[in-house]
Amino acid sequence: MMPNTDTGTENAARMIDIRGLDLSFGQGARSVQVLRDVSFSVAQGESFGLVGESGSGKTTVLRCLAGLLTHWRGELSIGGRALGRTLDFDRCRLVQMVFQDPYGSLHPRQTVARALREPLIIHRKDRREQRIDEVLVKVGLNPGFRDRFPHQLSGGQRQRVAIARALILEPRVLLLDEPTSALDVSVQAEILNLLADLRVRDGLTYLMVTHDLSVVAHLCDRLAVMQSGEIVETLDTRTLAQGTPRHDYTRMLVEASLSYSRDMATAA
Ligand SMILES: Nc1ncnc2c1ncn2[C@@H]1O[C@H](COP(=O)(O)OP(=O)(O)O)[C@@H](O)[C@H]1O
Ligand SMILES: [Mg+2]
Repeated sequence: MMPNTDTGTENAARMIDIRGLDLSFGQGARSVQVLRDVSFSVAQGESFGLVGESGSGKTTVLRCLAGLLTHWRGELSIGGRALGRTLDFDRCRLVQMVFQDPYGSLHPRQTVARALREPLIIHRKDRREQRIDEVLVKVGLNPGFRDRFPHQLSGGQRQRVAIARALILEPRVLLLDEPTSALDVSVQAEILNLLADLRVRDGLTYLMVTHDLSVVAHLCDRLAVMQSGEIVETLDTRTLAQGTPRHDYTRMLVEASLSYSRDMATAA
């Protein structure tokens, strides 16, 4: 038996479970291992942060879970169901990803309604137009946004549409990849509050990548720190607030985020 070092979710239902995830890019001598033995789990309804320096492998973990990368090794499961290496219909209904840059995730020549309708058609959902109106209201917009194109939206509105698109199939898990880092500071808090509300309202489970520990403190119950493709520390957000993380890298992040929070406070 492997010792269970991840006690945080022992008694709760595991929504996301990652065991010994390995992934390399490239072939033969040029092969680079990007994830090494990544293991953690996220309880049903929990919000879990994944932090670490740029290039440490955070997005890659999300892409494996979302089925956008399929050549990983290890064990992945969502909602108690082991994930295969193909992207199936069931997974789309269970887990959706929100990307850092809403410009990249929305087609420039598609209206909001069309972007939201597409997954409904693919998944043969009924009441399409009604669902589109409902999800727009849910993300703090309204049906008046249906005919807008992405360039006719503000950055915050664009990210709301991207979140609406992720939610329209009513998934249970959202994979959030730096969902506010492309936004103006003034809009970031608005989107974070929306995400916090949606999680409670819909009983969602979040796995959220960020390089900003103030975002983690605001939105996450626990977090894992990644460095060079490995998890170096898993901790409670409370531990973070008390300033007692063990790993040097985590302490550095805490320092950086505290000064960032001070800047935010001065800017507000
Ligand atoms: N498709 C790819 N092909 C080759 N290398 C990649 C690819 N995607 C990511 N990488 C590399 O994997 C590492 C981790 O990337 P990523 O998961 O995007 O990091 P993070 O999100 O933590 O910034 C980086 O070194 C990156 O250059
Ligand atoms: Mg990334």
